[in-house]
Amino acid sequence: MTFTLNKVVPWGRSFDEYVSMFSLTDRDLKKYILGCGDGPASFNATLTRSGGNVVSIDPIYRFSADEIKGKIEATYDLVIEQTSKNRDKFVWESIKTVENLGCVRMKAMNQFLADFSNSEGRYVTAELPALPFEDNAFNISLCSHLLFLYSEQLSSEFHVRSIKELCRIASEVRIFPLLELGGRESRHFGKVIDQLNADGYQCEVEKVTYEFQKGGDKMLRVKSTSCRFSLA
Ligand SMILES: C[S@@+](CC[C@H](N)C(=O)[O-])C[C@H]1O[C@@H](n2cnc3c(N)ncnc32)[C@H](O)[C@@H]1O
Repeated sequence: MTFTLNKVVPWGRSFDEYVSMFSLTDRDLKKYILGCGDGPASFNATLTRSGGNVVSIDPIYRFSADEIKGKIEATYDLVIEQTSKNRDKFVWESIKTVENLGCVRMKAMNQFLADFSNSEGRYVTAELPALPFEDNAFNISLCSHLLFLYSEQLSSEFHVRSIKELCRIASEVRIFPLLELGGRESRHFGKVIDQLNADGYQCEVEKVTYEFQKGGDKMLRVKSTSCRFSLA
């Protein structure tokens, strides 16, 4: 049995999970951050509350909070069932059980829902591979649980275009995880890195402290090697 989903689903992680997935330091958290494909994650809500500057983009932001809540409810049973059937593919340390996973994720997503309706432009409806921001508008772009994870649904060309777009609008891009849904390294990973390197991007794989999918403890950091003014 392999963990599978036939489309990208709205499912949200917490601020603490983002901090460990992306090795975000206190210095990073003071920068201007784009959360790409943030969906119903609570990263934006929590960071904003503590004084940070973050904009999230996601195609689901065209829906109302109630409509997104309905989509989360529809996703919940599916994700819990798939995780249950594939318990052995996950590390049950910080999150102890499938039931605990449901609670932790729902807590984060409820924080998002409460923040979403009153968010003054921090949630922008947009989608990869083209984003409505000026060159170098952000210091860091984060992309969690979209690129590489959905390798079956998204082609290698889509990945390359999307990562270049994220590099256009931010000085640095961080992507997590590098595994597909089933738990193996993304089928596109080698090809995408080769193409980015050939086109003058600097790619580094770094180990992080977060691991929920077994073996999913690495993020990709990408920078354009062309010299550009940085807001850092
Ligand atoms: C599995 S969720 C991850 C949410 C969040 N980043 C997290 O890790 O908690 C994937 C998100 O990607 C969004 N998405 C799907 N296609 C996208 C695209 N082309 N560009 C940006 N986001 C997209 C979905 O709407 C969904 O909210």
